[in-house]
Amino acid sequence: MGIDHILRSGAKRALPKRMVNKIIALRHLIRQKAHAYVPFDNMYPWLNYAFLQVMRDPDCATRPQYVWGVVQGTALAKVLGISRISVIEFGVAGGSGLIALECIAQAVSKLTGIDIDICGFDTGTGLPPPADVRDQPNMWFSGQLPMNEQRLLSRLKRPKLYLWPVKNTLKAFIAGCVRVIRYGFVHVDP
Ligand SMILES: C[S@@+](CC[C@H](N)C(=O)[O-])C[C@H]1O[C@@H](n2cnc3c(N)ncnc32)[C@H](O)[C@@H]1O
Repeated sequence: MGIDHILRSGAKRALPKRMVNKIIALRHLIRQKAHAYVPFDNMYPWLNYAFLQVMRDPDCATRPQYVWGVVQGTALAKVLGISRISVIEFGVAGGSGLIALECIAQAVSKLTGIDIDICGFDTGTGLPPPADVRDQPNMWFSGQLPMNEQRLLSRLKRPKLYLWPVKNTLKAFIAGCVRVIRYGFVHVDP
């Protein structure tokens, strides 16, 4: 039983019926306003509207912080007349973040007409050995948080995976596409 359900049934029991009905009507009003169409203008009314639209999909809603970043980055691309951007996750592990990012990119692309490429960087074999104390060797060890590449690929539609330590893949990635593809959102989680 969710907290929302507990609060709702508690309020129904504790408050007079007229007050409960007013609260329900107010909630409907707020929801309708939140989802009322706002034309694109790269200002907060549209950014908030787009955020809430994307958050309606439960698969996207697992990562609200990605939704906000992708909405912001894509809106900026649209204003600047850039028709295609990349969104990137550094550190993919099992892939739940990248799966959410793909879902979010699709939804934001639909709202804006901007093409969004999704890229994930990871060793593919979990954490590299700690290099020094900044890697907290007391907590993290080599091979922790590995990826099941086949399983992840079967759950993704079109993200590109760069599987190798980032220091080996990043230079080639940038050299290959920086002039044609702009970065709209980067999530760093190694
Ligand atoms: C915390 S997990 C990522 C979780 C993921 N972002 C999510 O939200 O579902 C960190 C991942 O970063 C990867 N990683 C750490 N250092 C790396 C490096 N130097 N190059 C490539 N991948 C690295 C590891 O393989 C590990 O799976």
